[in-house]
Amino acid sequence: MTDQTPMDQTAKSSVRALPDAQTVTSVRHWTDRLFSFRVTRPRSLRFRSGEFVMIGLMGDNGKPLLRAYSIASPSWDDELEFYSIKVPDGPLTSKLQHIQPGAQIILRPKPVGTLVLDALLPGKRLWLLATGTGIAPFASLMRDPETYEKYQQVIMMHTCRTMAELEYGRELVEGLRDDPLIGEMVAGKLHYYPTTTREDSARTGRITDNLSSGRVFEDLGLPKITPADDRAMVCGSLAFNHDVKAVLESFGLNEGANSEPREYVVEKAFVGDGI
Ligand SMILES: Cc1cc2nc3c(=O)[nH]c(=O)nc-3n(C[C@H](O)[C@H](O)[C@H](O)COP(=O)(O)OP(=O)(O)OC[C@H]3O[C@@H](n4cnc5c(N)ncnc54)[C@H](O)[C@@H]3O)c2cc1C
Ligand SMILES: NC(=O)c1ccc[n+]([C@@H]2O[C@H](COP(=O)([O-])OP(=O)(O)OC[C@H]3O[C@@H](n4cnc5c(N)ncnc54)[C@H](OP(=O)(O)O)[C@@H]3O)[C@@H](O)[C@H]2O)c1
Repeated sequence: MTDQTPMDQTAKSSVRALPDAQTVTSVRHWTDRLFSFRVTRPRSLRFRSGEFVMIGLMGDNGKPLLRAYSIASPSWDDELEFYSIKVPDGPLTSKLQHIQPGAQIILRPKPVGTLVLDALLPGKRLWLLATGTGIAPFASLMRDPETYEKYQQVIMMHTCRTMAELEYGRELVEGLRDDPLIGEMVAGKLHYYPTTTREDSARTGRITDNLSSGRVFEDLGLPKITPADDRAMVCGSLAFNHDVKAVLESFGLNEGANSEPREYVVEKAFVGDGI
């Protein structure tokens, strides 16, 4: 028999009351406005790499406070990973940013989304275009063997204001090369093209400008994007998505969806103009 105070019992019953609860297994803070965390995965949860789910915490009013989050881990992983902004006065992330291992979050096990391999027609090259936390769905797809089975080359363009904001993606890509499951598939296939726009770094400039000017094709030794060979997935702010769509359309690509696969697909990284 274990010692149990009435307080322990209260804590246990409130944990049990949390709907769709999952336990946080690790948390890592990347900057004062970005963090990632991992949680247990519901046994029954099946998802396609690139999809998002609703996650959250119990609000002060006793109702779940939920937000859309891309699953950043691949579909084969035992746990689920998320990569998150910290909005200082954001209803959810002002609290979520303080979670610790052992804490519980709510996770509704109904994955959806358009950034999935099935929503694109077959092609040779897959362009993953993201700003900020928009890299989250691609963190999932870059770790999925199916991505490399379907494409000869995968190009991850990620742009942030500063180098510190690129670090989550940089470390993930570096780690893939030594990954026992996927390392060999990735070698020579995955091109990583990170840029900053408000701090000097090895490569600078907006994704839209580096595509329109042809600089990225020159730097990577790849042909210009064509509808015959290239496919793209886009995830960033509304303004970014709008502008990059125009660039992709200028190359002759058309937007697709789960119900009608075409040459590119788009999803918002968040709703609003930014914090
Ligand atoms: C399909 C989809 C997938 C999403 N996936 C993720 C994800 O993987 N990681 C993530 O951090 N967020 C993601 N978001 C945004 C997320 O749903 C919340 O908006 C975010 O967690 C902030 O919640 P909040 O309650 O603190 O503030 P909210 O009231 O939701 O947002 C306040 C304001 O903060 C700004 N904002 C919100 N999210 C971001 C962001 N990610 N980057 C920059 N500014 C932002 C917006 O201007 C917004 O109006 C996603 C949104 C959608 C629609
Ligand atoms: N990042 C920070 O250090 C910081 C700090 C405090 C607050 N904030 C606030 O947080 C909000 C979100 O910031 P964020 O940095 O995550 O996202 P963001 O403002 O969308 O910028 C992310 C990256 O996307 C680029 N970008 C923005 N709009 C684009 C477009 N239409 N086409 C192509 N590229 C585009 C930006 O380039 P440009 O730099 O050229 O715009 C930047 O490199 C902003 O409202 C900001 O004011 C940011």
